[in-house]
Amino acid sequence: MKTLVLGAVAALRCVYAQDSVSFDFDNYGKDDASGTPYQTFKSNADVKPPQLQINKNETGLADGLVFIGVDGAPTSGQNWPSIWDFSPDRMGTLVWTGNYTEPFDFRTQTYKGEPVLTFWSGELLDGYGHGSYYILNQSYAEIAHFSAVGYKELSDLHEFSITTDDTALVIIYTPKQADLSDVGGDQDGWIFDCVFQEIDIDSGRLVFEWNASTHVGVNETVNELGDAGSEASPFDYFHMNSVLKDANGDYLISGRVMDAVFKISSSGDILWRLGGKQSDFDVADDAVFAFQHDARWVDANQTRMTIFDNGPTDAVGYSRGLLFDVDQAAKTVSLIQEFYNGAKTFAKFEGSLQVLDPTSTDTNYFLGYGNQPFLAEFSADGTLLLDVQFGATNAVNGYRAYKLAWTGKPATNPDIHLDADANAAYVSWNGATDVEWWDVYSANATNGTWRYAASANRTGFETTVDLGGGGVDKYLRARAVNGSGDALGWTRATDGNGMFDASGDVDEEKNSTSSSAVSTTASTTARSTGSSATTAAAASATSGLAVRIGRGMVEKVVVAVVVVALV
Ligand SMILES: *[C@@H]1O[C@H](CO)[C@@H](O)[C@H](O)[C@H]1NC(C)=O
Ligand SMILES: *[C@@H]1O[C@H](CO)[C@@H](O)[C@H](O)[C@H]1NC(C)=O
Ligand SMILES: *[C@@H]1O[C@H](CO)[C@@H](O)[C@H](O)[C@H]1NC(C)=O
Ligand SMILES: *[C@@H]1O[C@H](CO)[C@@H](O)[C@H](O)[C@H]1NC(C)=O
Ligand SMILES: *[C@@H]1O[C@H](CO)[C@@H](O)[C@H](O)[C@H]1NC(C)=O
Ligand SMILES: *[C@@H]1O[C@H](CO)[C@@H](O)[C@H](O)[C@H]1NC(C)=O
Ligand SMILES: *[C@@H]1O[C@H](CO)[C@@H](O)[C@H](O)[C@H]1NC(C)=O
Ligand SMILES: *[C@@H]1O[C@H](CO)[C@@H](O)[C@H](O)[C@H]1NC(C)=O
Ligand SMILES: *[C@@H]1O[C@H](CO)[C@@H](O)[C@H](O)[C@H]1NC(C)=O
Ligand SMILES: *[C@@H]1O[C@H](CO)[C@@H](O)[C@H](O)[C@H]1NC(C)=O
Ligand SMILES: *[C@@H]1O[C@H](CO)[C@@H](O)[C@H](O)[C@H]1NC(C)=O
Repeated sequence: MKTLVLGAVAALRCVYAQDSVSFDFDNYGKDDASGTPYQTFKSNADVKPPQLQINKNETGLADGLVFIGVDGAPTSGQNWPSIWDFSPDRMGTLVWTGNYTEPFDFRTQTYKGEPVLTFWSGELLDGYGHGSYYILNQSYAEIAHFSAVGYKELSDLHEFSITTDDTALVIIYTPKQADLSDVGGDQDGWIFDCVFQEIDIDSGRLVFEWNASTHVGVNETVNELGDAGSEASPFDYFHMNSVLKDANGDYLISGRVMDAVFKISSSGDILWRLGGKQSDFDVADDAVFAFQHDARWVDANQTRMTIFDNGPTDAVGYSRGLLFDVDQAAKTVSLIQEFYNGAKTFAKFEGSLQVLDPTSTDTNYFLGYGNQPFLAEFSADGTLLLDVQFGATNAVNGYRAYKLAWTGKPATNPDIHLDADANAAYVSWNGATDVEWWDVYSANATNGTWRYAASANRTGFETTVDLGGGGVDKYLRARAVNGSGDALGWTRATDGNGMFDASGDVDEEKNSTSSSAVSTTASTTARSTGSSATTAAAASATSGLAVRIGRGMVEKVVVAVVVVALV
């Protein structure tokens, strides 16, 4: 099911300017021949996220950051989880990326009452995966890492959803002997059984387990046997790709090659099938779907459902997000709204549709194209507001895309790079969401007195701070400041060649007594990036809050290394 274009080496010409997201070039969007465009940064050489192409951005986008697990086989850049900012001032810029390869189902969830990042990472196989599940806290530290119970090696990539009881719902693909005569195969053939588990994350206790083969016959599949059916190549007859638990304790699962969504009771019985060969529902013609992903209830009353329809009828011809009206009593399904991007992309597998405010019908919708690197946001009536491509087609997958609230407080220090020739400092802080602007200071020694040099509003992952015409001392360091004027962290010091631990006084008095000089400098250094110390100073003054760095205070450099242990 998964056709990945492998091979081809990274081509240097595919490295484009950092944080410059509005561009157009011939190869983008074509097959992977030219490699996947990615970004590099002067202040942080470790991260190489995709370069985005923004085809459309309209006003009316919902709040929140965008979560993409970049996976598949990019011929360049990194296949890591990534968080993006699509606010007007930072449209399409990176917020965080971290060293976990082939991430699937990357998003925020709530665990033990705290906002966390969750994802699967591991080895991507032919339509399924062998890996494990990760939970990171707001400092991007791993606070849980686990596998399916009794199937450590077989923990699959399709689902990692956390319930209100802090249990996890996960899927396992496991080979099992089965009679394949209904699909033209051997009586003693092999299938991939699809198992889902509910696991208490803290204790590792198995709460519930269900498998398809006990309840659903091979004769219900719409998949073709082909060469499959042996122990070495089991027949993927069900292909479970989403599981969620509702407030009544029932489960909703999607079987891709069943063309059906199933409701399972807490005792394991199938309450109904929606779609497929044995549908209990009458599905309206324009609501018929195939090879779907990501079945979800929208409302607690279960009157609306969303899915990603991968394999629409020839009459439709493109993949789409579908919002259904579901009447469980009358057993009818009708289409409320369909969602598709400007290119009417066909995405053969993976994909997602998210209702950004499930409590309202006046909400935006967020669409991920799964195996094709596109995402889109829509207003309530289906108007396309945001249309983005984040990789070369057939090379990069996103599985599901989400827009969610997130506050990141990295335990690392921010990073700085000084380019004396450009008279500029480049500053970034992987994962810090609260930085409003940067102040740069200089000193004649790493333990000298640090005097104010320049400021700039945060413009994206990396912000360029023009050092102005006033001249700066040998060493430079910068501090990240939040919207109330509080310092969130300091970079180490640099002279443009090396990095050094810094100490010494911050000349606060000098800074505050020469505020007019600061403004003058700033006004002559405002750049097209839209950054200016004048406005930063104005914002600081307006807030009326003193910056909480005392004279003579020695800054402690605290570096917490997030250890990444890939299983
Ligand atoms: C967003 O859209 C506006 C209006 O079309 C355009 O000028 C701007 O360049 C776009 N921004 C990005 C980052 O593509
Ligand atoms: C990512 O982690 C792997 C495994 O720990 C390591 O070998 C690799 O150097 C890391 N890559 C980067 C860019 O940090
Ligand atoms: C995240 O976990 C690390 C390691 O347990 C801890 O030091 C840190 O304080 C936590 N951060 C948050 C925001 O909870
Ligand atoms: C599937 O469920 C049946 C009945 O609960 C059980 O006997 C069987 O071991 C399960 N198989 C797998 C692969 O989990
Ligand atoms: C599959 O087989 C079962 C058991 O014989 C039968 O009840 C069911 O109707 C069959 N389904 C299809 C789609 O043929
Ligand atoms: C859910 O159904 C109940 C009972 O019919 C109704 O009172 C309630 O308003 C419904 N909630 C929503 C969000 O529609
Ligand atoms: C750093 O050295 C230069 C040149 O000697 C001097 O002009 C400047 O005042 C010094 N800066 C500080 C903060 O002492
Ligand atoms: C700074 O470091 C130098 C060299 O280690 C030392 O001689 C000097 O006394 C230090 N200055 C201050 C202000 O601590
Ligand atoms: C800025 O940081 C301070 C200290 O952590 C915090 O009290 C304040 O609420 C923050 N302000 C904003 C706007 O985040
Ligand atoms: C800098 O940020 C402040 C506060 O967010 C904002 O009011 C101001 O317009 C920004 N300045 C520029 C030049 O974008
Ligand atoms: C120095 O001045 C700049 C610009 O006015 C301001 O952003 C910053 O908070 C000040 N720093 C200190 C330490 O007072």
